[in-house]
Amino acid sequence: MNKHEKHESGCKKHGVNLSSKHLPHSSADMIPKCFIKTFGCQMNEYDSELVKGLFEEEGYACTQDINEADVILFNGCSVREHAEARVWGQVGVLKKSAAHSRQSIDRKTKPIIGIIGCIAQNHQDKIFKKLPHVDLVCGTGNLYDLPKMVREIQKTGKKMLAVNGKQRPHAIGSAGTRKGRLKAFVTIVEGCDNYCSYCIVPYVRARQISRLPQDILEEIKSLVENGTKEITLLGQNVNSYGVDLNAHGLSFVKLLSEASKINGLERIRFMTSHPKDTVKELFELMAENKKICPHLHLPFQSGSERILKKMNRKYTISQYIKVVDLYKRIVAGGSLTTDVIVGFPGEEEKDFKDTFNLMKEVAFDSAFVFKYCPRPPAVSSLLADDVNIETKKERNQLLLSLQKKISLNKNRFYLEREAEVLVEGHDKMKKKLRGRTRANKIAVFEGQDKLIGKKVKVKIKDVTESTLIAGLGK
Ligand code: SAH
Ligand code: SF4
Ligand code: F3S
Repeated sequence: MNKHEKHESGCKKHGVNLSSKHLPHSSADMIPKCFIKTFGCQMNEYDSELVKGLFEEEGYACTQDINEADVILFNGCSVREHAEARVWGQVGVLKKSAAHSRQSIDRKTKPIIGIIGCIAQNHQDKIFKKLPHVDLVCGTGNLYDLPKMVREIQKTGKKMLAVNGKQRPHAIGSAGTRKGRLKAFVTIVEGCDNYCSYCIVPYVRARQISRLPQDILEEIKSLVENGTKEITLLGQNVNSYGVDLNAHGLSFVKLLSEASKINGLERIRFMTSHPKDTVKELFELMAENKKICPHLHLPFQSGSERILKKMNRKYTISQYIKVVDLYKRIVAGGSLTTDVIVGFPGEEEKDFKDTFNLMKEVAFDSAFVFKYCPRPPAVSSLLADDVNIETKKERNQLLLSLQKKISLNKNRFYLEREAEVLVEGHDKMKKKLRGRTRANKIAVFEGQDKLIGKKVKVKIKDVTESTLIAGLGK
């Protein structure tokens, strides 16, 4: 699963590389081009699709090549310092070429450089000081303003700022730029009301607002009519979907059930689940409905009761374990993944031991382990960040190596078993096919390209902690 700020998509995999011979559309053809690089979680991925759609409506073509772009946008994440550093770094690289263009090419043909999304909402006009070659800053609630901002900059040459808006940038009415994609994300609930003490998301994405069920279902139908086979429903806490809709809404379980009835849709996933709102009915639906993939991402964040309280997670360890036990009992063969933070303020050796032991006890299929960092204005940033970096690194390493062993062990369960795989493309070496099982495990196997986009049966021959190595079944 691609998660959080680890994920990055855009032109070149290893960072942008704007050549000094930047040639915007003027020379090649007259269609203006827009390049978007996305960082962060799937919500940002979804928003980038929306922005691409807005520019396409303006007559732009989207490009994967930054060198031919007239508009260059970075949709950035603020969830951890490291996530931001990557955006600052990559935008910083463009400075030289932007300065070069500014002197030698007239304003109309110089690419416009913008920072958008959570990072823009977080740092607002300070970005112009930090990176003077940036032309526009646009927050999560102002994305619909983007084409207008670009027009204005082209006309006046002035920098543009739009933040703190109340637009909910999640209404992609049709397949839009996602036409023909095998898999697609659909945001069902924006923002978050949970205010976990360490987390910046409620500040950069505002309070929870659920989309209307009919809009969500229409969007999925349109995607499916245009070739999509697998949908992932997105929300910071999908299980609280609908609580703000009152009579107009459905519960998450009902929405999931309705979505699964859409003809032609083959698989449906969802993330993220919050332990305090995850109910037995969800697991019962997952168990009986074969379109719903048996995978649950259920962050626990800390195994220490004391730290959990300070994190404002609103559940106890025993409640968490109870949810996990229910899931394991009801959703046979289901996989379980998690997020955990080490080094939260005041985390002592015994708190860390509790976290370690919980990971051992639950035996997740995989886990994202994060080193705590203060994120003002999240309230834990007022506490002393008193676990030193060496200790954070050591704890991080201990959990990762524990998880590696557990993941390998979990994957061994699949040896000599069959699994259904939706073939997504090639593996990194481009030698084999690559896809995912219903439980969200990556499988690689030999096969012909014509299988891409299809569901096939494979038999697992070997495993690593991250991959099932398979052969085509009969
Ligand atoms: N809504 C999801 C997670 C969103 S953020 C949930 O509630 O689970 C993704 C992950 O980043 C979190 O689960 C958490 O583990 C991590 N994270 C968030 N803020 C962090 C911080 N200040 N320091 C370190 N990790 C953090
Ligand atoms: Fe952040 Fe907590 Fe909301 Fe997740 S549930 S986005 S961790 S505040
Ligand atoms: Fe990052 Fe914003 Fe997602 S802060 S994790 S991109 S909601």
